[in-house]
Amino acid sequence: MAKRLQARRLDGIDHNPWVEFIRQASDDDAVNLGQGFPDFPPPAFAVEAFQHAVSGDFMLNQYTKAFGYPPLTKVLASFFGKLLGQELEPLKNVLVTVGAYGALFTAFQALVDEGDEVIIIEPFFDCYEPMTLMAGGRPVFVSLKPTPTQDGELDSCTNWQLDPTELASKFTSRTKALVLNTPSNPLGKVFSRAELELVASLCQQHDVVCISDEVYQWLVYDGYQHISIASLPGMWDRTLTIGSAGKAFSATGWKVGWVLGPDSLMQHLRTVHQNSVFHCPTQAQAAVAWSFEREQLHFGQPSSYFVQFLQATQRSRDHMIRSLQSVGLRPIVPQGSYFVITDISDFKSKMPDLPGAVDEPYDRRFIKWMSKNKGLVAIPVSIFYSEPHRRLFDHYIRFCFVKDESTLQAMDEKLQKWRDELRP
Ligand SMILES: Cc1ncc(COP(=O)(O)O)c(C=O)c1O
Repeated sequence: MAKRLQARRLDGIDHNPWVEFIRQASDDDAVNLGQGFPDFPPPAFAVEAFQHAVSGDFMLNQYTKAFGYPPLTKVLASFFGKLLGQELEPLKNVLVTVGAYGALFTAFQALVDEGDEVIIIEPFFDCYEPMTLMAGGRPVFVSLKPTPTQDGELDSCTNWQLDPTELASKFTSRTKALVLNTPSNPLGKVFSRAELELVASLCQQHDVVCISDEVYQWLVYDGYQHISIASLPGMWDRTLTIGSAGKAFSATGWKVGWVLGPDSLMQHLRTVHQNSVFHCPTQAQAAVAWSFEREQLHFGQPSSYFVQFLQATQRSRDHMIRSLQSVGLRPIVPQGSYFVITDISDFKSKMPDLPGAVDEPYDRRFIKWMSKNKGLVAIPVSIFYSEPHRRLFDHYIRFCFVKDESTLQAMDEKLQKWRDELRP
């Protein structure tokens, strides 16, 4: 065809780094600690719920309500209503989406207009930028700034802070939304009450919507606490809270997510949803509904999946941190999420000339080198930064530790070989 094919909204967003790094894992037959998914089964009750959804009531093979399978919207409303301190109406305050990805896309399409500015905190889950651009918006970035630690001291993501003056300077009359992600990907930062209060007061002062991505809310370690910004005074009316059943029940392939918010915002998301996907697979929604009903009965008790999963995941996190340190990688302890980022600046100074294109950030070259030579795949952290800031943050890589014991052992074997090579 002679006509220009792709819509202009796709300009500049057609390259997706994930495709390259996922392929790398299979090409090099390496241990894949890159992409964020568990390589172990979901809890038995969730698997049984899905089996029941497939083999039970035949009507679950058919369409359901556009904005969510009614038992799911009902249980989400009661479960999260308690956590947010709000009386939630299933039909007005809950929308079930195709994963949290779908929730984010629907939110951006519904609220961001041509020329609107969207504040994004770096490092950020990488789809926030293209989703802003596709909606015609302009991303405005503000970086979390790391404070250097003393030599030998274990670094922590609590040392990465927002500069309040810089954050305030990003708000203009054109700012429509701010995207918050707590616990965050890739850093694993859990925003404190004081940090959330700062964001909340700026959003209120400048009449800005907060899109709060809380998919990792059940994975908060070391006694830190997850706080939903929607629960702070004055924030419910301007916040969309996004969650994921994939992350909650270790079933990322189910692609069931949700948005919670005030009807004044949700009505616009419903317009996008009913004119795009219309609704998500009924059986997956039924399985998630039953899983939440089960979890609601056990919530906060030792028998709760969220409690047990958190304990197991914290052990995996600690295992990975110890292992990475043993070869001179410098992990930055996460407070939450699936991920630990690791400082590779020592490698950058010792072997600065790794193969790769001249303009390729160091962390990307390091990942390729590590995959080929050490048999481990991770993700370069520079892909979680805007173009102008990538060079400043090209000495970190991200590992996913929500992996089976056998995968962590396979990692240990690769690291053992790496250690042997390091011995004089
Ligand atoms: C911060 C964050 N938000 C949203 C998502 C997407 O979640 P889902 O798999 O439910 O679409 C992910 C997935 O990795 C994520 O890390």
